[in-house]
Amino acid sequence: MKNIAIVYFSAGGHTQQLALGIAEGARSVPQTNAVLLRIENSDFRDGRWKNDETIANLDRADAIVFGSPTYMGGLAAQFKAFIDACGGIWYEQRWKNKLAAGFTHSQGLSGDKLNTLEGLAINAMQHSMIWISLGTRPEGSQHQHINRLGSYLGLMAQSEADQINIHDGDRHTAKLFGQRIADATHRWNKP
Ligand SMILES: Cc1cc2nc3c(=O)[nH]c(=O)nc-3n(C[C@H](O)[C@H](O)[C@H](O)COP(=O)(O)O)c2cc1C
Repeated sequence: MKNIAIVYFSAGGHTQQLALGIAEGARSVPQTNAVLLRIENSDFRDGRWKNDETIANLDRADAIVFGSPTYMGGLAAQFKAFIDACGGIWYEQRWKNKLAAGFTHSQGLSGDKLNTLEGLAINAMQHSMIWISLGTRPEGSQHQHINRLGSYLGLMAQSEADQINIHDGDRHTAKLFGQRIADATHRWNKP
């Protein structure tokens, strides 16, 4: 059995819908567990993030998928606080050679989401993890299309502020991404 942990922040639930799609795709691959770990407001004290249970789950994982909404062209402060709280893990290189991947959601069609994915990827590189790309070219640019925003470094999705459910194409792309992450995790961790 392989374990995939999806750690993310989501204020309004859109980034969470991507996390759910990734988990569903990952679980569709036999012998794969997926655990969802949301960064909660209750995890913060004096501006610092701390949640030992989340860290224990991440330590157990074979692959970690990082997700943040794009705020002001980059990572949400809540997710950056989580990243910064993992500095001790970086020092020990405890997550070295685990697989990693990333996703983001924003309101603008661009909204500078690439900068958020780069932030997630650079964090994974500092931990000496192995980065998994999105793995599919755009099917088109309509709402129902796979990878409609033409992203490669990781998963990008977009919704309007008053939109409750993410677009079908983004949900589908999230599932395919989850499958790819699970497949890669089984291949990388072959006995
Ligand atoms: C402080 C703040 C900054 C934001 N900056 C951006 C931005 O730079 N680009 C963009 O497209 N959307 C931006 N947005 C919209 C968010 O990306 C959007 O609300 C978020 O992805 C929704 O995800 P969630 O429902 O998971 O919280 C911003 C929203 C907030 C609250």
